[in-house]
This record gives sequence, structure tokens and C-alpha cells, in this order.
Amino acid sequence: TALHEPVHHDSAHKHVSGRAHYTDDLPVPQNTLQVLIAQSPHAHARIISMDLSAVASAEGVVAVLSAQNVPGINDCSPVAGDDPIFAYDTVSYVGQSVFAVAAVDMASARAAIGLAKIDYDILPAIVTIDEAMQEGTFLGPAATISTGDADGAIAAAPHHLDGRIVIGGQEHFYLEGQAALAVPGEDGDMTLYCSTQHPSEIQHKVATSLGLANHAVTVETRRMGGAFGGKESQGNLPAITAAIAAKLTGRPAKTIYDRDDDFMLTGKRHDVRIDYSVGFDDDGKIRGVVFEQALRCGMSWDLSESIAARAMCHADNAYHIKNMRIISHRCRTNTQSNTAFRGFGGPQGMVGIERVIDAVAHHLALDPLIVRQRNFYPHKDISDHGVTPYGQPVEDCVIQDIVSTLVKTSAYTKRRKAVELFNKANRYVKRGIALTPVKFGISFNSSFLNQAGALVHVYNDGSVHLNHGGTEMGQGLYTKVAQIVAHVFSIPLETVKITATTTGKVPNTSATAASSGSDLNGMAAMRAAHAIKTRMQDFLAEQSQIDPKDVHFSDGKVLVGDQYYSFAEAAHRCYMGRISLSSTGFYATPKVHWDKQTLTGRPFFYFAYGAACSEVVVDLLTGENRILRTDILHDVGKSLNPALDIGQIEGGFVQGAGWLTTEELVWNEQGRLMTHAPSTYKIPACSDRPVDFRVALFAEGENSEATIHKSKAVGEPPLMLGISVLMALSHALQSAGESGEYPALDAPATCERLLMRSIALGGPC
Ligand code: MTE
Ligand code: MOS
Repeated sequence: TALHEPVHHDSAHKHVSGRAHYTDDLPVPQNTLQVLIAQSPHAHARIISMDLSAVASAEGVVAVLSAQNVPGINDCSPVAGDDPIFAYDTVSYVGQSVFAVAAVDMASARAAIGLAKIDYDILPAIVTIDEAMQEGTFLGPAATISTGDADGAIAAAPHHLDGRIVIGGQEHFYLEGQAALAVPGEDGDMTLYCSTQHPSEIQHKVATSLGLANHAVTVETRRMGGAFGGKESQGNLPAITAAIAAKLTGRPAKTIYDRDDDFMLTGKRHDVRIDYSVGFDDDGKIRGVVFEQALRCGMSWDLSESIAARAMCHADNAYHIKNMRIISHRCRTNTQSNTAFRGFGGPQGMVGIERVIDAVAHHLALDPLIVRQRNFYPHKDISDHGVTPYGQPVEDCVIQDIVSTLVKTSAYTKRRKAVELFNKANRYVKRGIALTPVKFGISFNSSFLNQAGALVHVYNDGSVHLNHGGTEMGQGLYTKVAQIVAHVFSIPLETVKITATTTGKVPNTSATAASSGSDLNGMAAMRAAHAIKTRMQDFLAEQSQIDPKDVHFSDGKVLVGDQYYSFAEAAHRCYMGRISLSSTGFYATPKVHWDKQTLTGRPFFYFAYGAACSEVVVDLLTGENRILRTDILHDVGKSLNPALDIGQIEGGFVQGAGWLTTEELVWNEQGRLMTHAPSTYKIPACSDRPVDFRVALFAEGENSEATIHKSKAVGEPPLMLGISVLMALSHALQSAGESGEYPALDAPATCERLLMRSIALGGPC
């Protein structure tokens, strides 16, 4: 069967031919309304008065939605109850939802919102991390993870460095913006079609905002045109506004954000300021580190508590540092409420320690790769496992194997020498190379989220209907789970019908997030299929008076004793014998536990590992640069689908490199996001990928835990392979001038920043 085979994404042909339906493409009744959210022009202000009468009477407007007419609770937050659907007494960021109109078309809606008369009393705004740290504006108290004696170890170490790195945020820039369609039903029920990673949460939040029970709301998601964490919680507001409009008018209603509105309304990756203090030996072995991470959370919690925790849990990356303290500040600012983004805080934490390693290596005039290797967690075959600062033993460490193979296949050592010779010979153009590792924890930190359900039907013609709680955002989850189910019955992949995720079939699901989609839903679907298969085996065996062990499913056939049936015939026989051919399946990840108070436990079922070697070239006269070559070796365990896995690795790497190089979010002093369109916000284009791009799966990869067919999650970890590009740029700049000073680049390392750094280091210009 197709398991472990590189079969293409189930919708690949539809994606490239434009025939895949996204939310805005669904056929709708003619009386469907368009909902447009009116945004706050101020970062922080008190609403003195709001007169929406001219809006209500404007041409084409059917309803005006505001805090006054939310039928239920005025909240769209995922956790903390602190995100009003519509602002009522204060506004807390530029772009915040203040009211909305439901109109017959978008042009009427746009014209109408300008007619609102709202008086604001402008209040002082906290925009940046520095301001929040100075003023002490936080969402909650600082948190600390501590192991050993960091201060003592640093004080006693032969060498000591302090530093700071500022790392920018990131806009998701999913190609399909936020989108929801609400269709009112009988009895006030509501059906929604949403672009969301979290249909269950939208179901629950629509229910509370309409004052309904969960059973009255159904949410369906066939696919998203990208999500990247940006549709875990940020889909709530568009869905709720569409649902309220549908409730108030009795007509279907759609909320579709255009690109500029999407930028202004939705949260992004947290930017972070990391201060560090490190003590180390002559040979680069790190004795102790203190990190102080300050994250810009924005105006409310959203998912920031868990994101900050994951940033702390990845401050060690692949390095065993016995004395470590990580302090986390959750800054409250008058900006968009920052949210999940591929890696969920992990990438930010990891850049911190990679910067430290680079600075240590520079101080000791060592190759950073040597310093990295000297600090790795002990290999899995060494019985004395290292323990992370949060108390989880690292039992599956294969980073040594991956890095030593990659050093060979990328010819790292030879190329590093060549780069140094090149830099001696060239004044204006410099090259740099870096090889960086990734160790990423797999599972939701909050243990209860690590559960999933599935529903499988075998029809009496032998065709199979598959449903599960995971959502498809382009990553290929639906394809992988279908491969798993086809494998159970030993039938061709085409026999399994992939169907849209819906809360009506599988309830109480978690977001498809934390890279756990196939781990969780693959296992749940396998169990559902196995339950049916067992019933079929038992029945067919009984009919032929043989042992169920002598009923075999292979090659699309069922062998019962010495009799062959096609799978369709076997299914039909079972149906005629009144055997249930439908089953649910459920899975909860074993072994994981996490104490939110002490920030200790075993939050992760296992770790995913990988490494990347990137070589760059920088023009010191302009800062312009290219990634000349990237070699990646990544561990996906025993791959469920090598084609999809390699696609995830390529895409993740490029997205990570984009975050750290070209993607720059700029808020002005009044807290207005100035980079809110592709004209000013630059995601990587296809020509920005490495000129020479070599991605390989770690051949010996096999999950040591009992995951689905011994595979490993792949969704997020590769993003952090992009860190190699930042470190390679840093290497290139080291020879910009004569000073020998460490370049200490902040991220994103844009052309402008590289140019300014180069000038500061005495480079030519
Ligand atoms: N790949 C594509 N094409 N589009 C996406 O939106 N999201 C990423 C990753 N890969 C994403 C993607 C994120 S943030 C996560 S958590 C995982 O996919 C979620 O899917 P999985 O758990 O099935 O890997
Ligand atoms: Mo991914 S950030 O966990 O949705």
C-alpha cells in the first residue's frame, strides 16, 4: 500500500489548477451578506461616545453589529476571556474591532463604516518591548525555569560574556486570509464554514457569543490556504462576526479579511528581546547561562502563556547546560495580540542560545560548529541521559549522528576554509557559512490537548469514508491519515474518501497545531479502522468456521481460509451479516505531563532533530545577499510520506529564513503597523530560496517511542533550520572591517541592517 511512499498531496492537482474550494469559493445563496469590521484608529483610547446611526442607514447596510447587540458574551479569546469581539469602553490597539457592518456587498460596507461618529479620549500607549519593560506593563508575573546554579557557574567560569539580541516578529501571510461563512438554520442553529486550525474552538466561541449550547453550532473546514499558527485563535473573530450577522438578520453572512485588514486585525509571531549572560571554559564548554526573555504579547493573552513557556523550553536547543536560568517577561503592549506561529515561541528561544554559542565561539576564535558539538546533549546510546532545565530527560538524542553526517555531505570544513580564503581576497563581497542544529519538543505543553478522535465508515461497496479532528492547511495531514487507513485494510489509497473536518462528526478536538496532527489523528484513525477490521475478521472467520487469525487483508483482497474475496465483497458479506462497519477511534498521547506552576515535567513525548548548513554571500556596499547553498538533514523518524515531509522541510526552512532576514514588521510611535501589505512586508519569493538546495531525510531515523508507524512530526521543527542563515550572515560580516568585533546582528537581518552593521564594523561603503 501507499504507507511510507511519496504519494502526492490529495489536493495537489486542485491546488495548481485553481479548483480547490477555499471558504470564499463556496457557492452561497444570493442573499448572503458581507461583513466588514471597523477598526480602531488609536493604539489606546477611551471611547467617549459612538454614534452609528449614519452607518445603519447607509445604502446597502442590513445590520450594524457592536458590543450593544452581541447576543451572548462579548469575547472571542481562546483562553483568558480578554479579547472583546467589539471594543466597548476602551480600544487597545490600532486595528482593533470596534463595530461591524453586514451589507449586501463589500463596497457598500466599506463606504458605510466611514460614516461612524466615534469620540475617543486618547490615552498614552505602550508600543515596544523596551517601553513595556521600563513601565512594567505585563500581562502577568514573570516566570522562571531554573536548574543548577547559573550565577555561581558563570562567576566561576574562566570566561564570561553578556549580550542582547532583539528578534522581530513575523506576519503569517497565509495566502488565503481569514475567512468564515455562517449559515443560519432552524431553531437558531448555526452552521459555519471556516478557514481554521481549530473548528472546535470556533464552535464553542460562536456558541457563547450567540448564547447557544455547543450542540447548536457546527463548524466545517475542508482546507485552509495556509495557516502557520495564524488560524489557531485568530479565526474566532471573523467566524463570530459572521455568526452574529447571520443571527441578527436570518441571512447567511461572510467575513473575509482582505490582506491589509488581516495585517491590522490579527496577531503575529511574538518579537522578543533576549538578554544573556554566559560563563564558559577555554574549549567553549558552557558552564552556565542566564536568559532573560521579554516577549511582546500585545494587548491580551491570546495563547501567549503557552508560547512563552515553549520559548523557555527551547532556550537550551540541543545543548546540555547544567546550570541555567530562564526568566520570561510577558509584555503587555497596545499592539495586535500576538499569537501562535510555526514553532510557537520555540524558534525565538532557540535563536537566543544559537547567538550565545556564536558569540562564545567568536570570543575563543573557535569554529562555532566545534562549540556546538562540545555542548550537545549526550547521544541516546549513552545511558547517562542529559536532563533539560524543565526536568525532562533527553532519551532520544541523535543530533551527533545528524550533524556528523551533514558535515560530510555538505563538505562543511572544506567550504568554511574556502569562505575564509574568499573573504581575505574580496573586500566588497563577503561569504559566510554556518551549520546549526535543531531539537524540538513534540506535543502540546498543556497535556490535556494531546488527544484526538476519528470516525471511519466502510460502506457496503467497500469504499471507505474517513473523518478525523485534524485540519488540512497544506501540510498534507489528510493524505497521511488516508495512507494510514488504507494500510490497515490493505486497500488502494483511492478507496479512502477524505472528508472535511467537522465538529458534527468528531467532537471536542484540539487545534491542529504543535506539529502533532498526524501523531494524534493518524493514531485515532488507525484505531477506528482496526476496530472495523477486527469485526470483519471475526465475522468472516465465523462464517467459514476458521480462526480469525486465518483471515488476511492484503492487496485489496481478503483471504478467508483458502477463499479470496475482494475487499468490496468482504464488506458486503459483513453488511449482509449485520456487522457494524463504522467506528470511532480515540488517542491520547501517553507519558506526557506538565506542571504549569513550576514549569516542570515531561511536556514532550519525544524530540525531533535536524540540522542545516547554509552558505551566504553579502554585498557590503548594499547589504544585498543570497543564500548560495543549503544542505539539510532532518529526522522524521520512519517517514509516513517522504514527498510531503521534504515539502514541509523546504517550506519550513524558507519561512524561517524569511523571518530572520527579510520579513520586518514596523510600528510607528503611535502604534500603527506601517508594514501591512506586500509592498512593504517582504516574504521570501521563490527566487529567494537557496540557489542550491539539498534536503535529505535522516536515513536511520526511527522514533524510539511508539508513535504512528514510528514516524516523527515534521510541521514546525524545520522552520528553525533557517537559523543557519542568520548565523551565516553573521559569519560573513565578521570580516567586513579590521576590528574583529563580533557582528551581533539583530533579526531580521535585512539588507539595511547588514549594511549599517558592516559600516559600524569598519566595512567599505
Ligand atoms: N504547512 C503548510 N503548507 N501550511 C501551513 O499552514 N502550518 C505549520 C505546519 N506546516 C502549515 C504547514 C504549523 S504552524 C503546524 S503546527 C503544522 O503544520 C500543523 O500540522 P501537522 O500537525 O499536521 O504537522
Ligand atoms: Mo502551529 S504554530 O502549532 O499552529
